[in-house]
Amino acid sequence: MREDKGFFRGRRFRQTGFFRELIKETYLHPGDLVQPYFVVETEEEDFIKEIPSMPGQYQLSIRNLILRLKEAMEVGLKAIILFGIPATKDEMASSAYDIDGIIQRTVREVKERFPELIVITDVCLCEYTSHGHCGIVKNGKVLNDPTLELLAKTALSHVEAGADMVAPSDMMDGRIGYIREVLDSNGFEDVPIMSYAVKYCSGFYGPFREAAHSAPVFGDRRTYQMDPPNSREALREASADILEGADVIMVKPALAYLDIIHMIKGKFDVPVAAYQVSGEYSMIKAAASRGWLDEDKIVYETLIGIKRAGADMILSYFSVDVLRQMSSGKGWL
Ligand code: PBG
Repeated sequence: MREDKGFFRGRRFRQTGFFRELIKETYLHPGDLVQPYFVVETEEEDFIKEIPSMPGQYQLSIRNLILRLKEAMEVGLKAIILFGIPATKDEMASSAYDIDGIIQRTVREVKERFPELIVITDVCLCEYTSHGHCGIVKNGKVLNDPTLELLAKTALSHVEAGADMVAPSDMMDGRIGYIREVLDSNGFEDVPIMSYAVKYCSGFYGPFREAAHSAPVFGDRRTYQMDPPNSREALREASADILEGADVIMVKPALAYLDIIHMIKGKFDVPVAAYQVSGEYSMIKAAASRGWLDEDKIVYETLIGIKRAGADMILSYFSVDVLRQMSSGKGWL
């Protein structure tokens, strides 16, 4: 008969850092992190503007992006996702698929300088349409099927410029299959698609829309992005996109949707990405700047929570900060 009192002594392994390390279940690896960047089409080669609602994040000229990438790669950044801010917008989002558009030029320049860096491009029309919606609008309605062709043209132009992966974020139905077919028939069958398959209609995108100048001029995105109360619908979105050829399934936002990440990870055998979106970044920054929260601790806790939920990769505006800290020798908490 044992002498102890018969209860679980969880504190045994919490006594020292070495013990805690020994039983640690979840890790954040440098290779898990993707940093988003906003690039501006401008004549001003030195353009750089901090995004007011996202302190520490910038709208950048191509040249400034390249300077930042150099530093970021030195601390271990391996993947980026690019968002473009075009000089002109119109009803048909024509600068989204212009071969000399902001993303196409940026991708060419970045890949030329950093061939090994994984360059992912966000494929959507909202930054390029005059009305700010993610598709073609007629009589106040966002049309699904006519939008597919423009999305596929956009994706193809990104890949032709050298993008390593495309990430459609528009939430039109059927776009993954459409884009896959267009890429394949142009000889790009090896370029993967990361689908924003499970993208909720979220208030957390507010700061991004300021950053990317992409807020809808009328209405909202409720007719195409998912309704937050639904989780079984997330499975339908994910399975539809996998059937159409998606290579990675993304859940977005992350923090309020950890259950969805966990569920998708359990049900499907594709890699799962989670996007810690702009509003999640801004909340932490705002609280930290007032001294209400410890930024490093909260960033670590949210990112490890996203991994614990099941994400294989995380898109986060904190990525480079985290990598800098990981590589500083101070360790990562
Ligand atoms: C484009 C797009 C958005 C985000 C990524 N791609 C904005 C939106 O859907 O309104 C949001 C990213 C973020 O908030 O950080 N459709």
